[in-house]
Amino acid sequence: MSSVTNEQLYRLRTESISDGVGTTTTNFIESARGAMLRDVEGREYIDFAGGIGVMNIGHCHPKVVAAIIQQAEKLTHSCFMVNPYESAVKLAQKLCQITPGDFAQKAVFLNCGAEAVENAVKIARYYTKRPAIIVFENGYHGRTLLTMTMTSKVKPYKFGFGPFAPEIYRMPFGDVAGPEKLHDFFIKNVNPEAVAAVVAEPVQGEGGFIVPPPGYFQELVKICRDNGILFVADEIQSGMGRTGKMFAIENWGVEPDLITVAKSLAAGMPLAAVVGRAEIMDAVHAWGLGGTYGGNPVACAAGLAVLEVFEEENMLAKSVALGEKLKARFEKWQQQFEIIGEIRGLGAMLGLELVKNENRQPAADEAKQLTSFCLEKGLMLLSCGSYGNIIRVLAPFVITDEQLEKGLGIMEEGLAAL
Ligand SMILES: Cc1ncc(COP(=O)(O)O)c(C=O)c1O
Repeated sequence: MSSVTNEQLYRLRTESISDGVGTTTTNFIESARGAMLRDVEGREYIDFAGGIGVMNIGHCHPKVVAAIIQQAEKLTHSCFMVNPYESAVKLAQKLCQITPGDFAQKAVFLNCGAEAVENAVKIARYYTKRPAIIVFENGYHGRTLLTMTMTSKVKPYKFGFGPFAPEIYRMPFGDVAGPEKLHDFFIKNVNPEAVAAVVAEPVQGEGGFIVPPPGYFQELVKICRDNGILFVADEIQSGMGRTGKMFAIENWGVEPDLITVAKSLAAGMPLAAVVGRAEIMDAVHAWGLGGTYGGNPVACAAGLAVLEVFEEENMLAKSVALGEKLKARFEKWQQQFEIIGEIRGLGAMLGLELVKNENRQPAADEAKQLTSFCLEKGLMLLSCGSYGNIIRVLAPFVITDEQLEKGLGIMEEGLAAL
């Protein structure tokens, strides 16, 4: 146990970290393992958040930790653009093999999700020589100028940060008549011949775990192809096994032109990638893509270990099993608790919509009450959604039955107390 308290660290945080950075809790984490977090005062929490979808294979997986140590002892940085190294090329090769698409693929490494989305847009614009990008209501793509422009929710992501980047067009998502509306969109909002790419989260994350209806993506991609528009799947939250497939878009048999990956790719090391059709990825002139740290050797070694763990420990099967257990429990609660509206999401990317009154208004205050109640009882749980009323689960796939049962028990108690 550490010699400092949560309160002391919180005081220091208030004095030294910008108020512009929010934190959901005031518990300072000292260590974590599997699906458990431990704070500096020795309190333990079952982790249903996974550091926002980063710890799909669990905290401090021994294989990942060993790979990080081994690589750190040999080389921590040389800059891939100056002196390249093995871990990056090996990981790129593996990523190109596992991303959907029966065609030659290539990758570029970046540091975070927003940077991956920025680069996917750069590549798409370069390849198509078109400026416009279509995104969706309730979409989330990051906090940089371009990606916050692409993000839908105003507060806290965009409020006060304008002017925004040009040539971003937003349409409704997951609407049964969605693809039909795209035709209409081309009449009323943007010339399809000016559109470089449609960028979509296969399952919307921050926006509220929204899954589009069957056939939606197939139709959307067909319209894209008919108009020379690239389809970019932002798999930063929905990827790396979260929905039971390695990438969520595989649930619809769709092959995106470009895919963005980050979060669980390197189990906590900052690493992101754009992977896509070789022809598109190679269109950009040399030195047009890159960055000082992109594809850092330690992060890439962690990424390689993550992919090995996926295979050796059947992580996809574990994800499917977790999703089934969550769904069964959520369906039971839906019968039991008036406040539960829809069950949202896919596989182990599952959420509960909280609603109130006869007209089923978003119950955001109740969502806050529930997450606070759970934290108090030792369960780390996050909300999301444009109205903040979706309770989402992004628990590590390695969570034990006992931990899961205990966590769900706390949630149930919290729901009953609302
Ligand atoms: C779908 C999606 N895209 C992009 C991002 C941005 O990633 P990062 O926070 O690593 O920049 C996120 C982060 O939550 C995300 O969920």
